[in-house]
Amino acid sequence: MDKNTKDSIFVSRGFLWGPSPEIYRGVSGFYDFGPMGKLVKNNLENETRKVFMKYGFFEVECPILMPEIVWKASGHLERFTDTMVKCKKCKSSFKIEDAEKKCSSCGGELTKPEEYNLMVKTKVGTDKDMFLRPETATTTYLLFPRLFQFFRKTMPIKVFQIGKAYRNEISPRQGVIRLREFTQMESQIFINTDNEMDFPEFNRIKKEKVLLLPHKLKKPVKISLEGAIKKKYLKKPAFAWCIHITEEILKKTGVKGYRFRQHAPNEMAHYADDAWDVEVKINGDWVEICGVHDRTDYDLKRHSQFSKQKMNVNKEIPHVLEISFGLERTLYALLNDSLVMDGERNLMKLPENMAPFQIGIFPLLKDKKLESLANKVNEDLSRNFRTYHDISGSIGRRYRRQDEVGTPFCITIDHQSLEDKTVTIRERDSMKQERVKISELKVNLNEKFF
Ligand code: GLY
Repeated sequence: MDKNTKDSIFVSRGFLWGPSPEIYRGVSGFYDFGPMGKLVKNNLENETRKVFMKYGFFEVECPILMPEIVWKASGHLERFTDTMVKCKKCKSSFKIEDAEKKCSSCGGELTKPEEYNLMVKTKVGTDKDMFLRPETATTTYLLFPRLFQFFRKTMPIKVFQIGKAYRNEISPRQGVIRLREFTQMESQIFINTDNEMDFPEFNRIKKEKVLLLPHKLKKPVKISLEGAIKKKYLKKPAFAWCIHITEEILKKTGVKGYRFRQHAPNEMAHYADDAWDVEVKINGDWVEICGVHDRTDYDLKRHSQFSKQKMNVNKEIPHVLEISFGLERTLYALLNDSLVMDGERNLMKLPENMAPFQIGIFPLLKDKKLESLANKVNEDLSRNFRTYHDISGSIGRRYRRQDEVGTPFCITIDHQSLEDKTVTIRERDSMKQERVKISELKVNLNEKFF
């Protein structure tokens, strides 16, 4: 791989490796998170979790495998498909959107388009067909009767799930942008229809402005949520509230340059009545990283029919409003946007809450006394901050390593530290250094971060 591309830095610095398993040449659509990638992933999950919980959502976790009846009911078995063509000669498959007139691998003739189901099937025990979930959402819906009891029959019910989902993409060629195994962070509100229109929480956020691209407009408009309802770009205050929560997650995680684009009626998934994608530019193309969907009563109605369980509340089947983040795409957009390669140095400008570490701690030289003091400083700060204690290589190289993974501050312990109990703090972006008393480090860093 070219040493100077952003992707090569993500590999060399341990963010993303793949396709996995690399030592066996990999299968496209599967990736590993290296040690730095896993830390950012944890941060992204946790910041999202915090926002959902702030707005009253509770987290659940369901199995990834579900029996056929679930996917019959959800509609995925019948309608979760892509159209593909195959090469008659070399048998390569292509999504119809990606196909050219002839096979792009060998120039062979292509077959007629055929439908292809995107779910991954497996067997459990010796003979039971099960499917890996293509979204976490459906597994959350199955809990509705339990949740309704748990929340003492009070509506609306707000829940979310963070976990893996699987889609048997025909021939994914876009790194982590199109994966066969990926992580979703999906929230659902089970809500009655009158509550969707009369939603008191909306009043607190209705003046907030968002960048919307309704399907009838050519250019996006920056408009208040209240204005968007008036103009009928958004139909329901409760749905507008979901747009607001989505935007808060984007802000908390540092994703920039996004817009909300409404699906055209012929673009929507089989369950949706209204759908908006959050899109960001990655290497010049708009890429969807999240969807906000009005799923109406489609899901609970179908599951009620197929399971023969009653799911009515106040004489109607509750509706579902959903926020659905694809974690890997969001993470990739964030890394790609944060990494600045200006020829002088590679700098990962991650926000502090997303960076793998908040603080790097280095003894200036290989010296027992410096190392022992650095150890002490690390032990103390690691109680409150995500720290990395690095003793190997020249100090310049250690700074560069932390710059590339996005550590906002590095603390260096030198000979002066032994005499006057001070250390230097170096700021990542400006490279400015200041001397601070060890006894005041925590207060100083807290001020910088919070
Ligand atoms: N739950 C919506 C999606 O997976 O796209």
